[in-house]
Amino acid sequence: MSYFAAALVALLAAESLMVAGWGFPNAPIGAPATLLLVHLVVLGWLSLLLCGALFQFVPVLIARPLHSATLPLPALVLLLGGLAALLAGFLGLNGTNAAALPFFPIASTLLAAGFSLVLWNLGRTLWAARPLGLPARFVAVGLLGLAATVAIGITFALVLAGDATTPAALRIFAYGLPIHIVAGLGGWLTLTAMGVSYRLLAMFMLAPELDRPSTRAVLRFGAWALGVAVLGGTTAIVLKQGSAPVFIAAGVLGLLTVILYARDIAHLYRARKRRVIELNSRMAAAAVGSLVLAALLIVVLGSMGALARHAGAVVFLIAFGWLSGLGLAKLYKIVPFLTWLECYGPVLGKASTPRVQDLVAEQHARKWFGLYFIAAWAATAALFLDSAWAFRVAAAMLLVGTTGIVVQLVRARRLDDVPASARFPAGSMRPPLILSLTRSH
Ligand code: HEM
Repeated sequence: MSYFAAALVALLAAESLMVAGWGFPNAPIGAPATLLLVHLVVLGWLSLLLCGALFQFVPVLIARPLHSATLPLPALVLLLGGLAALLAGFLGLNGTNAAALPFFPIASTLLAAGFSLVLWNLGRTLWAARPLGLPARFVAVGLLGLAATVAIGITFALVLAGDATTPAALRIFAYGLPIHIVAGLGGWLTLTAMGVSYRLLAMFMLAPELDRPSTRAVLRFGAWALGVAVLGGTTAIVLKQGSAPVFIAAGVLGLLTVILYARDIAHLYRARKRRVIELNSRMAAAAVGSLVLAALLIVVLGSMGALARHAGAVVFLIAFGWLSGLGLAKLYKIVPFLTWLECYGPVLGKASTPRVQDLVAEQHARKWFGLYFIAAWAATAALFLDSAWAFRVAAAMLLVGTTGIVVQLVRARRLDDVPASARFPAGSMRPPLILSLTRSH
């Protein structure tokens, strides 16, 4: 829950900066302000969200406890410190904070330490559960993507700080940005989200678990796309070869991954036993739709030679339509579920308790989710049209929608939507707002 709280604060902060006109499209795409905004979203929001979800979810996937229940807290502290230092480093590129602590080396050390703890903890947990089921294998590949992203990001940061000066590091800095982005958005965030979504959607819609040949192909193509982009791309760059063929090959594999994944998810929706599905599952479909749209745009723009010009719009759609949309939709189930376990778990069978769905008020949340997705798509369109003012209007709608969703999550956590008479049967207790007391074992 602390990871989720920190992540949501980062999301709201990033959206506020966008409304204020900070970063792209008001500043160039590679400007320090844009770099700060991008990392507030991808590290502060998406990566913390996913780490928090994995600490909770990996034990469920493999039916075993987390390797260490104590490491997530120091990891969170290191990651937050590292993120703050990285953002300060980006600000320093602007000349804004000439105070000049060595922010990039500090960020590199703290982020390396924080992510190493995450990787160690989740890695050991998965290792002990071999042979892994399919969703857990997605997570394992996603974690490799995280390791690659962080390693390349740290190389960039140390080159910017003037501390890494080897020819290989300088070449990776000059040409490696696409690898960093593909490994981060594609490998770490997307493949992990795919693995988690297979399991969560099946669970929440009462659909059969997927272990179809197509699902295994999604994992295989996704892993190959990541491997080709990271290993092939880095090798090509260090050996001074053109990397275009490598990225085309990775792009084709990535496209196959998305097509097969979307087909699988459509199959899950069709095969479900629960006819009337909950809001979180309906909104997950809007997120998957955004991913498919982004993949189509990459193909069309790539074939027109216009991908580089519209990269900002496509990255925005992936970050806000797909990853953040799915994240918010799933939080709208995970938060009530955890809260329900904490509050009513101890009295189950001894007193009558509300259902998990009684903790949420979908009729109120629906409009905020609707606003959120319309705003995310409108902001993408504004970026395509190069309209900075339209982007700020859409960002304001995004901020309002997100705030509405966050209020609903806080209400669920505080059990505000459960009728007072049923809220606290004898023996139950109100869980603290940002600390989860559930144990994974
Ligand atoms: C989930 C993880 C990450 C993702 C998805 C990600 C994504 C990105 C993106 C999209 C850009 C380009 C932004 C632009 O041009 O406006 C970028 C640049 C950069 N990233 Fe990351 N990043 C991640 C993690 C990290 C980490 C952990 C570090 C450092 C410790 C880092 C350091 C950098 C640096 C220094 C640049 C600027 C490179 C340059 O000036 O060419 N990133 N990243």
